[in-house]
Amino acid sequence: MNRTQVQAIAREPETPEEIFARTSAREVQLSHLLIFFISGGLLFMLLPGTFLGVWNLISISGRRAADSISPSWIQAHGHAQVLGWIGSFILGIGYYSIPKLRRGSQTFAVGSAWFAGTLWMTGVLLRWFANVYLWQWRVLLPVSATFELAAFLMFFRAVSQHKPQDSGKPKLETWIFVAIAGTIGLLVTLLLNLGACVWLSLRSSSPAFPQAFDQRFLIVAAWGFMVFFVWGFSAKWLPVFLGTRDPDNRLLGIAVAFQVVAVGFGLAGILRTATALLVVSSLLAILALQVFSRPKQAAKTKGVHISFPVFVRSAYVWLMIAVLLGVWAANATNPSGLWGASRHALTVGFVAMMVFCVGQRVLPAFSGMRLLFSSKLMFAGLLLLTVGCALRVSGEVLAYQEIVAAAWTWLP
Ligand code: HEM
Repeated sequence: MNRTQVQAIAREPETPEEIFARTSAREVQLSHLLIFFISGGLLFMLLPGTFLGVWNLISISGRRAADSISPSWIQAHGHAQVLGWIGSFILGIGYYSIPKLRRGSQTFAVGSAWFAGTLWMTGVLLRWFANVYLWQWRVLLPVSATFELAAFLMFFRAVSQHKPQDSGKPKLETWIFVAIAGTIGLLVTLLLNLGACVWLSLRSSSPAFPQAFDQRFLIVAAWGFMVFFVWGFSAKWLPVFLGTRDPDNRLLGIAVAFQVVAVGFGLAGILRTATALLVVSSLLAILALQVFSRPKQAAKTKGVHISFPVFVRSAYVWLMIAVLLGVWAANATNPSGLWGASRHALTVGFVAMMVFCVGQRVLPAFSGMRLLFSSKLMFAGLLLLTVGCALRVSGEVLAYQEIVAAAWTWLP
């Protein structure tokens, strides 16, 4: 008899009360971990992200030119939103969803998830600080990118050890494949980021990515990372929350394949082909997810505002607006405002809208079985987001394309 068998016999079986106490304690630990990631993400969204974004926009509209402000500041804002906000949310929800963590297996400690979260947020904060204040940026840039990559690799190790079933042949659901595509997109984003940061610190006179590289990098971060995660979560949650029919998994797989090719073209700088393929992949995903098909049952709006299904569907309208504006930008002679409009139709109209909708639906329950504080505030937030995004996207098109000069004044 080996040591493990002796230990197993010597160990008293747990009573139901002990099992309940152990599981509850583990659940509380996980809720605290999730709250850490979500609060960190929200702070990044609010101050380094939105506050700096608004500041940039006020300057741009005052001077009536996007290139009138520092690219380093613009990139500090983008980095804080994409990796600080959306990245922290995804890592937090990812850790929270690993069953192994919930069962308290010895192979994994919740402590390492806290460490990874701290490393991640420190990395994003250092980047913001270096880009905005330019203090020691040659050192801080590679350090920040290394912290982010290391935190991601810790997360990746934890999730990749996750087996979906305890017995029998493991079968992964389609939404998990889409999330895996997003995870690979995040890895590529972080590798590109590290390579570029090292290059900047050795060769450049400023901490900002050169414009041509930045545009390609953003295609990977937006379409290869964020959009895949939103599609994956949509495939998992929309049938439950919106009552939509089950996703067409094959079509969703084809949409993902088209998008991977599109991101490849984007990375190679072939933007016309990339944007055309993004139209196809987004249309296929909308069809596959059955967002606008007749639902199979009523939406579950208990605990949230009844307008919830309308706003979720509006996010997918914003997705289509974003890809069509992208096609326009790729073919225009004066595209800078169009890229900005397309980018924010995607990041604010699609990604932020979905996070505001689904986040308010699931996060209170995940964070210790709480209820949403106020469904009226939820409605107000979603309405303001919609109006703000509509003014921003339309303003950017009308102002930069010199269609309506007054659009410069409503842009901020
Ligand atoms: C109140 C909300 C926001 C404001 C006022 C804002 C403002 C701006 C401005 C002025 C720019 C530079 C010019 C342009 O591209 O139009 C910019 C760029 C950008 N924004 Fe936003 N933004 C907001 C929300 C978001 C969100 C929610 C995300 C992502 C989730 C995001 C991601 C980005 C990215 C990736 C860039 C490009 C950065 C680069 O050039 O590297 N923004 N934003």
